[in-house]
Amino acid sequence: MRADTVQSIYYNQAPDALRREIAAMLNRIWPDDSLMSSGTIPATHDESLNARSFFAYVDGRLVSYAGVVRKSIKHEGHFFNIAGLSCVATHPDYQAQGLGLQTVAAATQWMEQSGADWGIFTCKPHLAGFYDRAGAWPVVPNVTLIGSRDTGALSSESLQVVVLMRLFSAKAYAYESILRHTTIDLGLPVGHFL
Ligand SMILES: CC(C)(COP(=O)(O)OP(=O)(O)OC[C@H]1O[C@@H](n2cnc3c(N)ncnc32)[C@H](O)[C@@H]1OP(=O)(O)O)[C@@H](O)C(=O)NCCC(=O)NCCS
Repeated sequence: MRADTVQSIYYNQAPDALRREIAAMLNRIWPDDSLMSSGTIPATHDESLNARSFFAYVDGRLVSYAGVVRKSIKHEGHFFNIAGLSCVATHPDYQAQGLGLQTVAAATQWMEQSGADWGIFTCKPHLAGFYDRAGAWPVVPNVTLIGSRDTGALSSESLQVVVLMRLFSAKAYAYESILRHTTIDLGLPVGHFL
């Protein structure tokens, strides 16, 4: 399987058939019967996050997926455009064949060129090596990521996940000192996270 087999499209422009395939594959990993039985296609990404979808087919079946979501946040008085990986998954029958590395590599390359100041997301500690291999994503031990400061908001600490972060823009490097040893507020609704 070669990396150029990874396809990509803005999720907001994806046809219903593709959205359905993405939702069905992700439902194998994170089952949500209420969504899949309702007849409507569950939205994989919130429209406001202007997601870019990366996906690979094998034998005509969508089997690996990685989304890049984007938003603007204010951190210590400065605005930044940030991007993050979301809904990274490979169908259980197709795992350990290099597909996840390919979709995440393609998503990371796109993110590097996307105009985002930095990329940030979280993963379970045992997957840190996977993201390092796929996109040179380092764990930043002194950064805490929070969905928001609202009661009940999710955080990297409460979820016991590690924070992965890469700086992309000159602006990000110029402000690097405020991006270390800090808490970064994503400004997301309660229950949402990266
Ligand atoms: C994580 C996931 C996307 C990897 O997809 P994949 O297509 O199986 O990954 P690849 O075959 O490209 O993996 C290549 C390497 O990543 C690492 N890796 C992959 N899955 C791993 C896992 N579950 N635990 C630890 N390392 C893993 C391995 O080093 C592997 O290399 P190896 O096969 O030489 O040992 C897939 O296991 C998955 O869908 N998991 C469930 C959903 C999930 O946890 N998503 C991540 C949310 S942050």
